[in-house]
Amino acid sequence: MYTLRVLLNRYWLMQQTPFSPIRWHDNHLYLLDQRLLPEKQQELVCQTLEQAATAISDLVVRGAPAIGITAAYAVYLGFRQSRQDPAYDLDAALEFLTKARPTAVNLAWAVSEQKKILQVESENTAEMLLVNAKKIHVKDIEHNQLMGDFGAELIKPGSRVLTHCNAGALATGGYGTALGVIRSAWAAQKLECVFASETRPWLQGLRLTAWELAQDGIEVDVITEGAVSSLFSQQNIQWVIVGADRVCANGDVINKVGTANLAILARHYGVSFMVVAPLSTIDTATESGELVPIEQREQSEILGTYYQSENRVSAWNPVFDLTPAGLVSALVTEKGVVLSPDKQKITDHLRLK
Ligand code: MRU
Repeated sequence: MYTLRVLLNRYWLMQQTPFSPIRWHDNHLYLLDQRLLPEKQQELVCQTLEQAATAISDLVVRGAPAIGITAAYAVYLGFRQSRQDPAYDLDAALEFLTKARPTAVNLAWAVSEQKKILQVESENTAEMLLVNAKKIHVKDIEHNQLMGDFGAELIKPGSRVLTHCNAGALATGGYGTALGVIRSAWAAQKLECVFASETRPWLQGLRLTAWELAQDGIEVDVITEGAVSSLFSQQNIQWVIVGADRVCANGDVINKVGTANLAILARHYGVSFMVVAPLSTIDTATESGELVPIEQREQSEILGTYYQSENRVSAWNPVFDLTPAGLVSALVTEKGVVLSPDKQKITDHLRLK
């Protein structure tokens, strides 16, 4: 059990890293504005639930676990607003927050964790919500470190790996899921080479993953997504390592668009495919990937300004895709590793103490 002192200690330690995607300080929520990286390190301050929800939908903060952590703090902010203004509709605000991004299940998970506290309202509710948000934050980092070690055990010395999007410290409380495995494997001197795909259209791979790895002194080569087949055929890659926005009951994986392309190509070239995700990303209520709402974002993200004014060219912009469970070699959670995951293996894994 966490005593408040242990929690505060760990929380303090956690804030000593070179950058924190999410910080709670002086009663405000500080989010590192990931739209500006790597050029600028600037924080956005949120004082209300609505500011935090908008920061999530605008990609100030992104990545499934980081969205969940932000949402947990946002529920506290909303509760504080409801205490200051009796007309404030907390239920409607929680609904607004939950819809900020539809695909990452961690958002709904974190809101439902906080709702458990709201349901038994007492004079300590505000304090309990804040402590719980900090606990979700700290636990996420601990889970990432565990997953990092479990995942690294699967990697043989001298391996060459590819990651996609950003499943690093920036996408989580810290350390990262897929990048957590890469960090642990690098520390164990098992990696010869890390490739990161640039990840159109927001360039999370180029702007965020490459930046994070470079700060840790981990050598990284960025590739365009169109170069993946060439990479697999010419560069002797052993593992693709990615995070997830949702893992369904049958093991289907929903992650950044382009992940399924990697999995299909990896199978063709005999490259192993690892998905690293905490239990808060596993959605046993959703049987399979086709049932997951895939976020569609503005076509302007792809087209830029020229074609918008032309008005003759449009774009289709789904930002996640479905990788069938059959293409996944290993699912890594904070409880350990599930090889070739399927419904039965995931059910058994979740039952593990
Ligand atoms: O649109 P984003 O940047 O939120 O997408 C992020 C991803 O797809 C990540 O791979 C996923 O959330 C896992 S993060 C540990």
